[in-house]
Amino acid sequence: MTVANMYKEKGSNPYRPWPARITSIIDLTENERLFELRIIDESVREGFQFESGPFVELSIFGVGEAPISISSAPSKQGFIELCVRNAGDVTGALHGKKCGDIVGVRGPFGRGFPFQEMKGHDVLLVAGGLGIAPLKSLINHIHDDRHDFGNVSILYGARDPSEILFRYQFDMWKHRDDFDLILTVDEADETWGDEVGRVTALFDMIDIDPDNTYGAICGPPVMYRFVIDEMRKKEMDVDKIYMSFERRMKCGIGKCGHCGVGHQYACIDGPVFNYWEAMNLQEAI
Ligand SMILES: Cc1cc2nc3c(=O)[nH]c(=O)nc-3n(C[C@H](O)[C@H](O)[C@H](O)COP(=O)(O)OP(=O)(O)OC[C@H]3O[C@@H](n4cnc5c(N)ncnc54)[C@H](O)[C@@H]3O)c2cc1C
Ligand code: FES
Repeated sequence: MTVANMYKEKGSNPYRPWPARITSIIDLTENERLFELRIIDESVREGFQFESGPFVELSIFGVGEAPISISSAPSKQGFIELCVRNAGDVTGALHGKKCGDIVGVRGPFGRGFPFQEMKGHDVLLVAGGLGIAPLKSLINHIHDDRHDFGNVSILYGARDPSEILFRYQFDMWKHRDDFDLILTVDEADETWGDEVGRVTALFDMIDIDPDNTYGAICGPPVMYRFVIDEMRKKEMDVDKIYMSFERRMKCGIGKCGHCGVGHQYACIDGPVFNYWEAMNLQEAI
């Protein structure tokens, strides 16, 4: 039984966090860490199924909850990876935890990227800053089924080299010929050998087959309009451009009304929307 079905079962409380053990912590930057969690209850763990893009409500007992995207691919069975910036109460308390400590997890919640629909096509992924967190799940998912996709291009920008996340993996991937990976920073230092400038400037460096390409975008809100403009200049279809929206969330299950985007709720109708849907939602971008 999936976790979603467990929630639907009479008597199952969707606000109840599942206890999960921290099994690994990797420092990615000064402010971001990658936490690997293992849900303790075996049946919940087995039912924890998702496509790339959903989030969990992560709880630190006695502190509170925060929505965090799942960074690992669905194929990483039994474990969930969360890439978390130390930004406030909950994330700060998580950063104070160590391996073996117990946290709470509700979810997976929300609609992810249309992975099955993307199969057979080229994919262009564009990330800015922490936006790489949910896209990392999609990138790894595509990697698992690489033969089902055409060209895969990844454009990733950060403010400076110290803020590039997953650098250990991307340094290896730059040498692969089945992914086109281009990294850029706004401000370089002497260690930097990649591009300098905004992520949108990288569009001049790639060829896109507009009829055959899906776009996936995640980053700071200001980035979306400019990236979409570049995708539209390349004549990509509005209904093949997908983006993940972050809104203030509380319940994660469409009850509290905190995450309204136009007439929809980002927690259940998103957080991933396509551009066609977003254009029809007030204040979406
Ligand atoms: C769908 C979704 C996915 C997300 N995925 C990720 C992810 O993968 N990784 C990640 O790190 N984050 C992610 N976030 C963002 C994360 O949920 C927020 O940063 C969250 O607020 C952190 O909770 P917190 O309790 O640690 O921070 P909070 O204590 O809520 O603080 C967050 C920010 O708000 C400010 N703030 C808090 N209280 C006040 C106040 N009273 N007045 C003014 N400012 C205030 C803080 O200074 C801080 O800048 C995601 C959010 C959404 C909606
Ligand atoms: S977070 Fe409560 S309705 Fe979306």
